[in-house]
Amino acid sequence: MISEKDFIQNNYTASVESGNFEWSAPSNIALVKYWGKKDKQIPANPSISFTLNNCKTITKLGFTKKENDGNFSFNLLFEGQPKEDFKPKIQKFFERIFEYCPYLKDFHFTIDTQNTFPHSSGIASSASGMAALAMNIMSLEKVLNPTISEEYFFQKASFLARLGSGSACRSVKGSVVVWGNHAEISGSSDLFGVEFPSTIHNNFKNYQDTILLVDKGEKQVSSTVGHDLMFGHPFAEKRFSQAHHNLSSIKNVLESGDVEQFIKIVESEALTLHAMMMTSMPYFILMKPNTLEIINKIWKFRNETQTPVCFTLDAGANVHVLYPENVKEKVLQFIKGELVGYCQNGQYICDEIGLGALMI
Ligand code: DP6
Repeated sequence: MISEKDFIQNNYTASVESGNFEWSAPSNIALVKYWGKKDKQIPANPSISFTLNNCKTITKLGFTKKENDGNFSFNLLFEGQPKEDFKPKIQKFFERIFEYCPYLKDFHFTIDTQNTFPHSSGIASSASGMAALAMNIMSLEKVLNPTISEEYFFQKASFLARLGSGSACRSVKGSVVVWGNHAEISGSSDLFGVEFPSTIHNNFKNYQDTILLVDKGEKQVSSTVGHDLMFGHPFAEKRFSQAHHNLSSIKNVLESGDVEQFIKIVESEALTLHAMMMTSMPYFILMKPNTLEIINKIWKFRNETQTPVCFTLDAGANVHVLYPENVKEKVLQFIKGELVGYCQNGQYICDEIGLGALMI
C-alpha cells in the first residue's frame, strides 16, 4: 500500500534557473459527501464525485531560483491584481507540503490565478484552486526529477491538493473520482483521489450539472469549522458507516445505469450533509428559503414528467441540478421557466462531467 513516505521527494538532482507552467483544474461535485476529517486531512469517510468541466481555476506558476534562506517566497495575483488576503492560505499550504516538496524553498514563485466562474458566486474555489496549484508544483518536480512516472505525478498532485483542501484531491482526474479507503474500490486511498475503477454506464456519460446560484454571500460556516462539527457529533459514527454503504450502492448504480436509484442516493446524501449541520453543536441552517422552493419544484417536475432530474447541495444554499444529457433541452426549459426566479440576479451556470486537470 502507498504511504505518505512514498511522496517525499529527496531524489532531485537536475537544476533549473527559472521558468513557468500553467494548469487548469476543475471544480467537482460530491455525490457521496466528505464531511468530517481526522488529523492531516484524512477523511472520516470515503467520498465520490463528478469532476466538472466548465467551472475551473487557471493558474500560472512562475519560478526563479533563489538562495535557500529557510523561507518560502512568493507573490500572488488574482485576475492579474495582487491579492494579499489569499497569501496566508498559500503560506499554510506550502508549510504543509514542504516535507514532501523540499525544493520549495529554493525558488521564488509568482502565482497568477483566475477562475472561469464569477468571483464570490458561492462556488467553492478551494478545490479547483488547490488542484491547479498542485499540478504546477508537480510540473516543477518533474523538471527537477525527470524520472518520476506519470502515475506518481498525478497521485502526488492529488495528495498535495488534499493537503490544501480535502475535496481538491478529487479535481485532478475525471470523470468520476473516489477519495478515501473503501473495501470495494480497488486502489482507493485516504491519501489521494483515484479514478472510479469500473466502466461507467452510458446513462452517466456526459451527465449535466446546472448550478443555481441561490445565495452568493460569504460562507456562513468555513469548511474547516464545518468538518470539526463532526467531532463529538451524536450521529457521527452512523453517518460515517452510512457513507461507506452509500458508496457501495452508488458503485453498483454507476455500473448498472440505474438512474432512479442514483437519484435516491444523491438526494439523500445532500440532505444528510445538511442534517449533520442542523444537528451539530453549534448548529447551522445553510439552506435558504429559495433552496427549499427549488427542491420542491424539482420533485414536482420529476413526479409530473418522469424526467430523471435530481439535486445535490454543498455546504451552502446553491443547488446543483443533475440530469442525463438526453433530457438536457427539457430540463433547461424547466430551469429557465420555473427555477431561475429563485436564483440571485437570475444567475446559474451550466456545467457537465469533465476530464480533470489540463496543462495549458
Ligand atoms: C460539503 O474540501 O472544502 O463540499 O478539507 O477543510 O478544505 P477542507 O474541506 P472541503 O470540504 C468539502 C465538503 C463538501 C462535501 C464534498 O465535497 O465532499
